[in-house]
Amino acid sequence: MITVRLARPDEYERVGALTIAAYRALAVDHLFGGYDEKILDTAARARSAAVLVAVIDDHVVGSVTYVDDPASEWNEWTEPGEAQFRLLAVDPEAHGRGAGVALVRECMNRASASNQPILIHTTPWMERAQRMYERFGFVRRPDRDAAYEVWNDADYPDLPPEWVGQAFLAFVWEPRN
Ligand SMILES: CC(C)(COP(=O)(O)OP(=O)(O)OC[C@H]1O[C@@H](n2cnc3c(N)ncnc32)[C@H](O)[C@@H]1OP(=O)(O)O)[C@@H](O)C(=O)NCCC(=O)NCCS
Repeated sequence: MITVRLARPDEYERVGALTIAAYRALAVDHLFGGYDEKILDTAARARSAAVLVAVIDDHVVGSVTYVDDPASEWNEWTEPGEAQFRLLAVDPEAHGRGAGVALVRECMNRASASNQPILIHTTPWMERAQRMYERFGFVRRPDRDAAYEVWNDADYPDLPPEWVGQAFLAFVWEPRN
């Protein structure tokens, strides 16, 4: 059985490590610009958003950060009233067991309870996540994409060449209340 709940402080290190492992398993580097260090600081994230975990047989196998406070430092590119989730990740060793689905479902339950749409951004190399979002009824919204010129304002010195010109791809889900 899969349980989804808030991460406990003694699980923060595990959350950071599994998130890094899941992102490292993607076909292209997603951890440039110091994102790895930001991801590993789960305690800071938990102060401004809800860090959720998926637990199977007492093992934390996945995590997602749910953001519904517009003032959160993890909120990005939303419009007023929208919720969001970030850093959806499942330990590569636990892929395909339903943890990702359970984490997204919990985000949808939370957004339904407050009657908020969910905006998320994904990347061209997150095909598995995109299949899951589409099955859940998330709709691709190119008009809400974060264009290369928008997110690359920092001129990252370690930007992998594959990212040049790429947008972050937006999906929106509307609760049916
Ligand atoms: C995307 C990601 C979170 C999915 O996690 P996961 O736990 O492997 O996903 P799930 O098992 O819940 O579901 C994904 C697949 O398993 C299937 N599945 C779901 N529940 C299942 C179950 N109980 N039994 C068997 N299969 C199941 C789904 O139909 C889906 O199939 P498909 O992807 O092969 O078409 C994971 O691949 C990951 O960490 N990716 C890297 C990070 C990433 O891309 N994050 C997205 C950020 S926007």
